[in-house]
Amino acid sequence: MDTKQEIDIQKEFMKKVKELNNKIQKYAIFTMGCQLNENDSEKISGMLEEMNYEKIEDIKNADLVIFNTCCVRENAEDRLFGKLGELKKIKEEKGTIIAIGGCMMQEKHITDKIKESYPFVDLLFGTHTLHKLPEDLYKILNQKQKEEDIIDIDGKVYEGLPIKRDSNLKASVTIMNGCNNFCSYCIVPYVRGRERSREPKDIIKEVENLAKSGYKEITLLGQNVNSYLRVEREKNIPFEQYKGINSFATLLQEINKIDGIERIRFISPHPKDFTDDVIDAIAKCEKVCKLVHLPLQAGSTKILKDMNRKYTKEQYLKLVEKMKEKIPNLTISTDIIVGFPGETEEDFEDTLDVVRKVGYEQVYMFIYSRRIGTPGDKMENQIPEEIKHIRFDKLKKLVENKIYENNQKYLGTTQTILVEGKSKNNENTLTGRTDSNKVVIFEGDNDLIGKMLKVEIVSEHMWYLKGEIKHGRIFTNDAKIS
Ligand code: 5AD
Ligand code: SF4
Repeated sequence: MDTKQEIDIQKEFMKKVKELNNKIQKYAIFTMGCQLNENDSEKISGMLEEMNYEKIEDIKNADLVIFNTCCVRENAEDRLFGKLGELKKIKEEKGTIIAIGGCMMQEKHITDKIKESYPFVDLLFGTHTLHKLPEDLYKILNQKQKEEDIIDIDGKVYEGLPIKRDSNLKASVTIMNGCNNFCSYCIVPYVRGRERSREPKDIIKEVENLAKSGYKEITLLGQNVNSYLRVEREKNIPFEQYKGINSFATLLQEINKIDGIERIRFISPHPKDFTDDVIDAIAKCEKVCKLVHLPLQAGSTKILKDMNRKYTKEQYLKLVEKMKEKIPNLTISTDIIVGFPGETEEDFEDTLDVVRKVGYEQVYMFIYSRRIGTPGDKMENQIPEEIKHIRFDKLKKLVENKIYENNQKYLGTTQTILVEGKSKNNENTLTGRTDSNKVVIFEGDNDLIGKMLKVEIVSEHMWYLKGEIKHGRIFTNDAKIS
């Protein structure tokens, strides 16, 4: 059966569940982890809303509670088990249906634990069976039985699932799934399968439709976006020719042409695959934001080798230099792990050295977390927790100092922001983001929401900037007045 037929079957199940649910049912969804998971949750919501479910926040009033889990670090497990403990009583009182999906469900030791300690859970589904939620739900509702729908395969690409997006301004578009890199600390390749890219025409159509619906910003998602279509090219796996797209660079160029879209972002690229054509495309395409997320992970060449990252400290710094030269106004964000097995004080100093040299816009810092089944977990020279924490705090201090320094460059400048809505903590101010993804808070009328706007930056506050509309210079999609 091809994937289209599989989706058609699920559409039939959506109708059947809708018939069973003759009145509106309420669901609550908890999403852990990265933006790919958030995008999957939007697809889960899309399917549920087709089946007469309505989203609510309070689990106590929900008929169905869904967890979309992440297993990249250990703390997500603690959070899931905590929430399940909370749900036990609610389930006893209300008969709430409980479903758990996502990356953690691809780990046998986790599903074993759930079946043993939380037997009241109704459905376990994995990363390769998300699209079968309608069928699984139908069986639970109709046959009143528990379901486990988890398979371990390389993975397929499914098109045509309904989607209910969280925002009407910014949208995520998954362009590829899976990972072939096997960084030695990372569980993702084991739970998300092998790299596979969506067809160019499906991506372009999705973005065109988003533009027609008024979306202004899109983020292209994948575990390794800059190797889009690489496996297909290398292994001669056929893909449909569409507008000459055969790589990440050519995809960026085509998306850049789509009217209505103002900003294009992407996460995450891998430094080892950052080819010149991608750098040139970022420089050339005016809609592609000049913030590049370039995960460093560690600064020491020895640790990078043990992590199987396939670049050295020098190669990373050289790449940064080249990008800075070729891309005007480039800003860079990164991911860093501290306390990988065998990391000495000297190795850690190399990480600090890179942070000092690059001058990151944003750094996402993580304490190394042992993941069962990865090579890192089997390494003997694990770092004691307290040393990991001391290093983490030291890195955090340096990052905060550097971000403070970096923020100064904004003062007095005019920034173009996409106005996203009212500020969370203050009804009277609006919030938007710069090209470099910095939050800007400013006073303005609600009709500015959804527009691209020029504001002058008047002060900085570590995690956000304050702006003022100085000349009323607005430019929107239709009329660009600067
Ligand atoms: N421990 C800590 N951080 C990790 N990451 C991935 N695996 C681990 C792990 N085992 C981090 C990496 C990656 C980000 C998404 O999560 O920095 O880029
Ligand atoms: Fe994990 Fe490395 Fe793949 Fe990223 S590139 S998902 S860190 S294995």
